[in-house]
Amino acid sequence: MTKLTIVAFDGTRFDIDADNGSTVMENAVRNSVPGIEAECGGACACATCHVYVDEAWTEKVGPPAAMEEDMLDFAIDVKPTSRLSCQIKIKADFDGLVVNVPERQA
Ligand code: FES
Repeated sequence: MTKLTIVAFDGTRFDIDADNGSTVMENAVRNSVPGIEAECGGACACATCHVYVDEAWTEKVGPPAAMEEDMLDFAIDVKPTSRLSCQIKIKADFDGLVVNVPERQA
């Protein structure tokens, strides 16, 4: 189990014990975090699971892969810290990870 915090746009914090190997998106959906629609179910094909990785974590989480970066073009209000949450796999190293949900999704 790895501690994951997802902060909704209105500031509501969802503190989650996430399974290693699960994705941030799966944890958001399981915990009914508003704003993560995940229309494609995690196939990196919709951009409705867009999140901002907390700045303290961006280096550790790393940049998006090429396919993810292409799909981020379809997200709204993309920032340097933007990632698709279905492409972030939880691992022990990410204990305490914080991501923020944008105001709106594509
Ligand atoms: Fe569709 Fe992540 S759930 S791109």
